[in-house]
Amino acid sequence: MRLIPVASLLCLSSLVKAYTYGWGTSWSIGLTPSSSIIEARTTFIPGVPPDPATQYGEIYLWPGLTNGTGDLLQTTIEQWPDQSWCGGTAGQWCLRTSVFGKSGQFDGAFAPLSANQPVTITFQRSANKTSWTQTAAVDGKVISQLTSPSGPMTGWGVATECVDDCSPAVSTQTYLDTKIVLEKADPTFGETTKVGIAGAGTVVSGLRSLEGGKVWHIAKITVPKSA
Ligand SMILES: *[C@@H]1O[C@H](CO)[C@@H](O)[C@H](O)[C@H]1NC(C)=O
Ligand SMILES: *[C@@H]1O[C@H](CO)[C@@H](O)[C@H](O)[C@H]1NC(C)=O
Repeated sequence: MRLIPVASLLCLSSLVKAYTYGWGTSWSIGLTPSSSIIEARTTFIPGVPPDPATQYGEIYLWPGLTNGTGDLLQTTIEQWPDQSWCGGTAGQWCLRTSVFGKSGQFDGAFAPLSANQPVTITFQRSANKTSWTQTAAVDGKVISQLTSPSGPMTGWGVATECVDDCSPAVSTQTYLDTKIVLEKADPTFGETTKVGIAGAGTVVSGLRSLEGGKVWHIAKITVPKSA
């Protein structure tokens, strides 16, 4: 479905030059050598999609996991001019789990998501430490899932991305009860937060650590609608 590569959180500036992207807010934590992640979970409330009558491009909202050079795991909440590809109707989002890397993009199932519907998105490293399973669930029911052999991951973040002159985000987005579990306790993980291009306006509240910095909680991340 997607014809244009999506940037990793680290590659925003180079891709902005190469493609006619528009970026809203991005925000990330980690991406240091000592921040090996084994699990990341959040509950995302996407707000309402733009008016389909004025939507010419594609808007993507997503939490993702990366190490800066390898795969980008991202569960995207999208709106296209026509949402029938995921079984959606006007006024709904489309969701898919996906992995983006050197060998291209691979997707889990496509699923429609109603406006303001909370969806829990989990990235879980496998017991053998080499694979990741990303799962999107609504009311405890899995709607999309994908396992990929993506190796070590060090950074988690959120982004809004606008392709082909899309209608930008018209609604505030919220990430609730984010939990990130590290391989080893890292008391400095909370100091690694970064905002991306046009990152101003994202509000992060309730960042705290447990177990000496092994488990990190972020109570709420609020991403404003596009300016
Ligand atoms: C990032 O992932 C790639 C692919 O698995 C791996 O080769 C590389 O060593 C990883 N980098 C870090 C810093 O973990
Ligand atoms: C690691 O575990 C995952 C999930 O169970 C599995 O899909 C993958 O094939 C395993 N990889 C190896 C190298 O055993």
